[in-house]
Amino acid sequence: MRKNKLIVANWKVNGSKTLCEEYRNLSDFQTRSDLVVCPPYPYLGQFNTHSISLGSQNVSIYQSGSHTSHVSVTMLKEFGCEYCVIGHSEVRDTFGDSDSIVRAKARLLLNEKITPIICVGEDESIRNSGQHLDFVNNQLKQGLPYFEFGESVKEIVIAYEPIWAIGTGNTASLTQIEDMAREIQSMVAYFYQHFSHLSVTVLYGGSVNPNNAKEILSQPSVDGLLIGGASLVPRNMEQILSFC
Ligand code: PGA
Repeated sequence: MRKNKLIVANWKVNGSKTLCEEYRNLSDFQTRSDLVVCPPYPYLGQFNTHSISLGSQNVSIYQSGSHTSHVSVTMLKEFGCEYCVIGHSEVRDTFGDSDSIVRAKARLLLNEKITPIICVGEDESIRNSGQHLDFVNNQLKQGLPYFEFGESVKEIVIAYEPIWAIGTGNTASLTQIEDMAREIQSMVAYFYQHFSHLSVTVLYGGSVNPNNAKEILSQPSVDGLLIGGASLVPRNMEQILSFC
């Protein structure tokens, strides 16, 4: 478990130079929590001399070559990305990223010392059928990267984002969040049982806003938040960061 909460802003296909500037003015809030901003690629350079940690919303499986529209891990590194979201349900849906692609991307990121934020989460029918724990367990088993012999990875971040809660205003209940976060903590700890220095960070994402963030952050197994829509309003982020 990490000492400070990790608050990750996922702008998706939103934002502007003005929003970048407003975020840069939030720097006072760096003392008690880690804020990571994941803007669209063209805005990554807007943060490279700033204390806010930078993340990418995705990365290519390719390192270079004829793959129009892709962005490689080396490029993310060059722009100062410390984190990268992979396996977001919107990316799984739009680009067909499977768990094995998520695993391969995580491995490439670790090679560049970028921390992967691996998204998992069930859809509504899986939740209703009561299979959500098995489903997420399987996503982790197939998607978590293997470490190289002797490699010392400090942190791995898993974001639990139930698909039915993303952008719907239908936030998961505190019990649903804590139950899954606790399961993920133990599943990941078991997977990496031979790596005692590894810290497992579990985020919750799905319709987080300033009204529900405090209670979600107070759940014992939740180490932070992945915030989409609400992160587009800097005042929301100020409020959420004040809970950390
Ligand atoms: P939301 O998005 O906060 O708008 O629900 C979260 C996410 O998709 O990361």
